[in-house]
Amino acid sequence: MADGMSTMSWQARHACLAVASAIASFTAQASTSPATDPVAPTGRWEANTNGNASTPPMGWNSWNAFRTEVDEDKVMGAARVLVDSGLARLGYIHVNLDDGWWQKRRAGDGRLQIRTGIFPSAATGGPDGTSFKPFTDRLHAMGLKAGIYTDIGRNACSQAYDLHSPNLPAGTAAEREVGLDGHVAQDIDLYFRQWGFDYIKIDACGLADFVPGSALVKQHDYRALAPLIERGSINRTDIGAVRRRYEEVAAALKATRPDNGYTLSICAWGMANVRTWGKDVGNLWRTSADITPSWTSMLHNFDSAAKRALYAGPGHWNDPDILHIGHGAFDAAHPVEVRAHFSLWAMINAPLLVSYDLRNGPASLLAVLGNAEVVGLNQDKAGHQGVVAYDSDDAQIIVKTLGDGQRKAVALFNRGASPAPVTLLARHMKLSPGAPVTLRDLWSKESATFTGEKAFVLAPHETLVFEATGRRQLANGVYLSEIPGAINVATDGTRQPQPDPTIHRMIDPWSNTRSGGSRPQYAGWGGAQADATPFGQALQVAGQGFDSGIGILANSRLQVKNDGHHALLMASVGVDDSTEDTRQPLRFHVYGDGRLLAESPPLVFGAGAHRLQADIRGVKVIELVVRGSRSGNAGLAVATWGDARLLRHADDGT
Ligand code: GLA
Repeated sequence: MADGMSTMSWQARHACLAVASAIASFTAQASTSPATDPVAPTGRWEANTNGNASTPPMGWNSWNAFRTEVDEDKVMGAARVLVDSGLARLGYIHVNLDDGWWQKRRAGDGRLQIRTGIFPSAATGGPDGTSFKPFTDRLHAMGLKAGIYTDIGRNACSQAYDLHSPNLPAGTAAEREVGLDGHVAQDIDLYFRQWGFDYIKIDACGLADFVPGSALVKQHDYRALAPLIERGSINRTDIGAVRRRYEEVAAALKATRPDNGYTLSICAWGMANVRTWGKDVGNLWRTSADITPSWTSMLHNFDSAAKRALYAGPGHWNDPDILHIGHGAFDAAHPVEVRAHFSLWAMINAPLLVSYDLRNGPASLLAVLGNAEVVGLNQDKAGHQGVVAYDSDDAQIIVKTLGDGQRKAVALFNRGASPAPVTLLARHMKLSPGAPVTLRDLWSKESATFTGEKAFVLAPHETLVFEATGRRQLANGVYLSEIPGAINVATDGTRQPQPDPTIHRMIDPWSNTRSGGSRPQYAGWGGAQADATPFGQALQVAGQGFDSGIGILANSRLQVKNDGHHALLMASVGVDDSTEDTRQPLRFHVYGDGRLLAESPPLVFGAGAHRLQADIRGVKVIELVVRGSRSGNAGLAVATWGDARLLRHADDGT
């Protein structure tokens, strides 16, 4: 504490006395055993590494193009265009069937039957009845991968929302139960071992919409399921039960394809706190409701993933939904919006799944999808999602670290319908303000150089994307907020999942204004953030601001992969000035492969940032733990890992 005392204000001294007993109590908690303590270090990387998604999945999905009116010709047509246009060579290799493919679950043995009227090659006959093997064989022969769709409950979304579809499952109530409920091992074996699929998208309407006593259940003779997901209420959602169902599928996939030859796409639309745990279970997880082809829906879906950089990385990606390029506000008549939508998805490491009728699309759209440099940002192996470096409702600046940190990509995004003046600072990119910065425009391919700052005026809805090179602010290392793909938020410190109020609230495309308003709906508010506090404030400790750092709540544990080159971790840590609880002292601990390397004394609100330094030579997994009081009555305490950075040489810190 001595460190901070000298700069302490009178309010802080007062608070310090008031918290003396709390310090004693949480010092005792620090020794809690790993089995019961979620912040105890494990020394083992905990984010999901199973499955096949080292970079965000790319390809085509049938839903936005055809909804349930999908058929074999349409899918094969899309596959052919992916190959013939060269898009497959760029990485667009997944061809994913969505809802509409099924006929029924066969009585007796429960084997799923395919709607052969629209998938003629599936009419293989014999004891199995139908099979997708000829279909997946054809895709594989084209060098592509095949994806299928199901639901985690008994019934699928079309059975609640597309009641006029000609392609709904048919038969008795039991035969129409085409979802995974009660059939996980059987269906996963069928899809992956027998039929040869490589990718599965698992929807969740079966857990949300077939409510006992509802008109839907009565009129359509479905077996009701007391909902585990209530869309409007996180407190009435059984988060644990939803998660366990997806975990059961993940285990079945691993058992069926021990070589990791599968991709698991969790489609719970940002509900059930999936934005927090999706990374531990699947390869991608939807962060919001379905995208529609309107600008504000795109904003909404983008926002649901854009501040979640610390939750994504190689093997696990935020999914703001398939692209709506080719339709409505993103058709060929709107080239500015098409480039914006595509650039934004690329910058935040969203899956690039195209979903229009590729057979009949204009060449101009293929040219956008085929921009190899923009695709390259998305597919950069290091997997660092772009971080919001400047934030407002009008315009944003998003910066993405490429590879080992020597190159950056930056997007300037005009969210609004008027021209927006945007000044880009070298500092936004963590580049030196005194050295020249070269920007290469990845759409126009023009280059320009500036020093310090450069002014732009963005057209309405325009997004500019550049690759940037300059002198890095940190010559001998990286800030942790530059490498979110190497970070896993093992425990974020939230006590109660809270809906995120910062996501653009569009007029709901389905209910329009038939309610009191568009409400925050996706839990995750208060999760860890790069270069911001968990509640989106600038990082600041006792009046000292930090452009770089990690903001997180107390009682949290972050994991950082050390790539082996780094020798030293340094950070200036303390209670953030925006903290809700100004009375709670916090302690910051650094562990290396489970061993304590460094820790702070108890730090109180108002105390100056404490300088922490840890020798991390040879360490594989660094863990950054903040401990505070666990009293349920205390407010939330906000902790700042200011300027947290990894340095290459042990003597860089002195
Ligand atoms: C849900 C999903 C969509 C799509 C449809 C199919 O709405 O979120 O992506 O799969 O179901 O019915």
